[in-house]
Amino acid sequence: MSARIIDGKALSQKILDSVKQEVESLSKSGKPIPGLTVILVGKDPASKIYVRNKERACQAVGIDSNIITLEEKTSEEELLYIIDTLNNDDKVHGILVQLPLPPHINECKVIEAISPSKDVDGFHPINRGRLLTGEDCLEPCTPKGIIHLIKSTGVDITGKHAVVIGRSNNVGKPAALMLLRNNATVTVAHTRTLDLPSVASTADILVVAAGRSHLVDETFIKEGAIVIDVGISRVDGRISGDVDFEKVKERAGFITPVPGGVGPMTVATLMENTLKAAKGTICKTS
Ligand code: GUN
Repeated sequence: MSARIIDGKALSQKILDSVKQEVESLSKSGKPIPGLTVILVGKDPASKIYVRNKERACQAVGIDSNIITLEEKTSEEELLYIIDTLNNDDKVHGILVQLPLPPHINECKVIEAISPSKDVDGFHPINRGRLLTGEDCLEPCTPKGIIHLIKSTGVDITGKHAVVIGRSNNVGKPAALMLLRNNATVTVAHTRTLDLPSVASTADILVVAAGRSHLVDETFIKEGAIVIDVGISRVDGRISGDVDFEKVKERAGFITPVPGGVGPMTVATLMENTLKAAKGTICKTS
């Protein structure tokens, strides 16, 4: 039997609708409108598109957006000064510095300069640490979207074996922690794992974030598994995921397409994080 498609576009729209409703009710009760500032340094074409998509999402849900565009040659010192100003601006609830940064700027230093309570990317070490210990925090957007997609199937995560292929700091590792927080039994595998197909084929939930086009075929899949494809690469001018969709859909129970699966969720969860930051319910350290 062919797998059910998990529609990330439709689910992300539902999330955006719900954020919009909450923003409207905040506004009606006289509370401040959530505000997101995105900083783009340089002219990376992909980054420009991502930033434009974030701005459009803000407009769609009623979040105030401010895009700060800086020249490629901007110094680290200047960028840190701007972040400090935004940290101290009460109208700014979320700050996102679009990555990658030019090579002369230290990314870690920049991320650590953002106030953890405004870190809507969930990349600050305080938020990463709180995720590890299970405290309330701003969670990274892509893994948060992955959890929404899995929950949308109606399958209970508790007790299931989840295998995450990929160990990046922004997707694989946090996705594993969030699955653990949802009571899954979690295995983290990667492209150096011995006999990856046999490890993956024990998964009730398989999250693939390896960054290798069509790494996963039907030999990796347990019958009926939920398969979430985080990969996105361009092969021969076409967008391709880490999962060979045509082969895997015959064995899986649920599968995300590429494009239209995880991709649209990331912007929707960024809006959720900005709303959460604006509500100010997270325990503040600074
Ligand atoms: N560049 C590509 N993806 C991301 C992201 O999720 N956050 C930031 N800040 N930069 C990115």
